[in-house]
Amino acid sequence: MELPPRPKLFDFHGVSMTKCFTDNWDNVQNVKARPDDILIATYPKAGTTWVSQILDLLYFGQTSPERQSSIPIHMRTSNPFTPHTMKQIHHIILYLLYSMQINRSLPTSPRLIKSHLPVQFVPKSFWEQNCRIVYVARNAKDTAVSYFHFGRMNMFQPEPGEWSSFLQHFIQGEVVFGSWYDHVRGWWEKKQTHSKLHYMFYEDLIEINKHVEIDRLCSFLGLSPSAEERERIRGAVQFDNMKKNKMTNYSTVPSMDLKVSSFIRKGMVGDWKNHFTVAQSEQFDEDYKKKMKNTTLQFRTEI
Ligand code: PPS
Repeated sequence: MELPPRPKLFDFHGVSMTKCFTDNWDNVQNVKARPDDILIATYPKAGTTWVSQILDLLYFGQTSPERQSSIPIHMRTSNPFTPHTMKQIHHIILYLLYSMQINRSLPTSPRLIKSHLPVQFVPKSFWEQNCRIVYVARNAKDTAVSYFHFGRMNMFQPEPGEWSSFLQHFIQGEVVFGSWYDHVRGWWEKKQTHSKLHYMFYEDLIEINKHVEIDRLCSFLGLSPSAEERERIRGAVQFDNMKKNKMTNYSTVPSMDLKVSSFIRKGMVGDWKNHFTVAQSEQFDEDYKKKMKNTTLQFRTEI
């Protein structure tokens, strides 16, 4: 199948976006949420897939285990915000690959809905219905590195160019879904007034063996899985297991070339040290201080 050319960025209400994400904007804004919907909100590359898999296992691991073994994760998290062209391609390929099984991805209760939208773009229905929201954030340096490699392997991303120029674009917010700084801060501010928003950090999740993060998540969701079930989930979502699992490693998605870079790539805190030069790191830190000076939000760039 011939894939469309790489998309171009443009300014959309102050946020860099590509056309395929804004094409059906009225439909996105008019999405009708249900009170039990769970919105998984992230800036790209923050650990969306990881948290989606955890949530899917928590809700459906016992009742419908065939979901996890036969439906790729991006189909299990319904996405009313997925661009039309991308959706079409995914559906055609998945239809061929999974034949009738695709129907099993629809519809669940609760629905797990993932989105990279900045807080100001979230359809109002989610606020009106007072839906639970799980936001995942990851430190800026590792996010930038992960986003760079994602751009190299995913035809639905603008051409990332060389690392040094991509980094400057990232700092300026000239990447899809805009400024990392605005995104994480916007959601952090929202959390101060919206009690049904659980703000998680990738760096805390890396310490999954301490059990704290899944326990916190369960308590936010009002779930109480048995110790055995929790242990099973913890094992299933370990990096190596998700990397080799075809239902989580994005090997079923035709726009992604895993020979260029894996989707589940390094999965670590501090890979930025293998990419940033000393000068790049200093420039980044100086700019970071300015952009993040009026917030209580803190990130770990190493653990
Ligand atoms: S996307 O495209 O925005 O949905 O990407 P997203 O899923 O948010 O982020 C991908 C990065 O998350 C890492 N990842 C994990 N890390 C540790 N453990 C597990 N189980 C795991 N699953 C996904 C993935 O490797 C990407 O990070 P990098 O740094 O590129 O490895």
